[in-house]
Amino acid sequence: MIIPDIIIAVDGFSSTGKSTFAKMVAKEFSFLYLDSGAMYRGVTLYALENGMIDSEGKIDEKSLKACIDSLDLHFRNIDGATKTFLGDRCIEGEIRTLAVSSHVSPVSAIPFVRNYVDDRLHRFSEGGRVIMDGRDIGTTVFPDAELKIFMTADTQVRAQRRYDEMVAKGETPSFEDVLKNLQERDYIDSHREVSPLSRAEDAYVMDNTEMTMHEELVWITGLIQGKFGILE
Ligand code: DC
Repeated sequence: MIIPDIIIAVDGFSSTGKSTFAKMVAKEFSFLYLDSGAMYRGVTLYALENGMIDSEGKIDEKSLKACIDSLDLHFRNIDGATKTFLGDRCIEGEIRTLAVSSHVSPVSAIPFVRNYVDDRLHRFSEGGRVIMDGRDIGTTVFPDAELKIFMTADTQVRAQRRYDEMVAKGETPSFEDVLKNLQERDYIDSHREVSPLSRAEDAYVMDNTEMTMHEELVWITGLIQGKFGILE
């Protein structure tokens, strides 16, 4: 199926499988995949490594603001997969640890951090044919995106997915900590002042609590065919 050069915005709660879904769609329809959460995670990793977040979680916003524009966060395509880089260093693994997950929501709530990330996402998406996942892609970053998806799933199921993912990577979190982190992030992401997580009015909702990846693909394929009048 050939689809036009559009922007597909995928928003939703943490651990709803947005990136897995977006990567699958990117591969199926030859789109560029951009993970906006990875940008926020990259800024958070940088702040942690440079002593800008103290042991109580307080962020030294002044120091972060002073250097954010010189941060070279970007994506590279390695063997067909999009990886996050800080300068020449691949930080794909480090940005997924619980340490980064625990601090990323407050970092992403800082307006100058959001401006920095939005600016980079626009630059990386020039020309379209991009699928991007996040929290505010369809509402703020690309309000004119041709197709918007809002993903949701049961909280316990989401926590279990995140827990399984971490265990598979060799981490040893407790399920309770993972669940708590998820609930805290849901709250901060939905209640922050700047670009809170919310469904764009024209977004299609996918609740994938009980969906397989194949069912997700069938779902979006049908949606694209219907919306753009494409006959298979
Ligand atoms: O999707 P993720 O879990 O990797 O996102 C990490 C954090 O970044 C999440 O807690 C909220 C924030 N985020 C955001 O505020 N806006 C986006 N477009 C993407 C992520």
